[in-house]
Amino acid sequence: MIRLNVNIDHIATIREARRTWEPSVVAAAVLADMAGASGITVHLRSDRRHIQDEDVRLLRGVVKTHLNLEMAATEEMVRIACDIRPNTATLVPERPEEVTTEGGLDVLAHEAEIRRASDQLSAAGVLVSIFVDPDLAQIEASQRVAAHQIEICTSRYSELTDPTRSAEASQVDAELARVSLCASRAGELGLAVAAGHGLTYRNVGAIAEIDPIEEFNIGHNIVARAALVGMERAVQEMIFVIKGAIRGSLGS
Ligand code: PXP
Repeated sequence: MIRLNVNIDHIATIREARRTWEPSVVAAAVLADMAGASGITVHLRSDRRHIQDEDVRLLRGVVKTHLNLEMAATEEMVRIACDIRPNTATLVPERPEEVTTEGGLDVLAHEAEIRRASDQLSAAGVLVSIFVDPDLAQIEASQRVAAHQIEICTSRYSELTDPTRSAEASQVDAELARVSLCASRAGELGLAVAAGHGLTYRNVGAIAEIDPIEEFNIGHNIVARAALVGMERAVQEMIFVIKGAIRGSLGS
């Protein structure tokens, strides 16, 4: 059974566009929950461009399923996570000028500091997930820093499957094979396996077929659809597509 955590960062993006109090991330989380989401994901960025510290605190009080906090492995963020205690902390790289997370964390290059963050989070009872590119060396390094889970970055796959670009089918197949190989290796190493970034109603089906993947974190596409059809319907439709019942019928 694949779990879907709905990333509601962009509900906060709409709110922050006017520095006001609506739409409410708490209301969005409740609606996603009522529609069958397995959990809620938010990214507390160092620049606080969308989700704020108070949002994470409020969501911790409301989300009783699973709260996944995406964060940089900085001292500030580890302190906040150890205090608020989401179910999972997903360690991601951050670059101030980036539009969104640009790829996986380079665990190999920062093993000591990521191990330190991982140990502190685990000691506080927070499961540690690491967002990595589909790269075997990064996955093996994630196991060495005692992560519970890896989240495979699907942004390359999402670029290749963007209907406005014209990638070759063989490139898509090669990327799916890379994701699949890495997911299997992570499973062998005893890591739980999630996937996310750039997944949509149109492209999630093939990733959902990769067996060791048991969790998705999907945000922009769901919130974009929710703006037009409502949060509950948008979440239900994504769950429906992930389950494979209508794969392909919502678009090319
Ligand atoms: N997973 C991680 C680690 C992310 O940083 C993001 C973006 O915040 C997502 C998943 C969700 O990506 P998207 O909004 O493209 O679905």
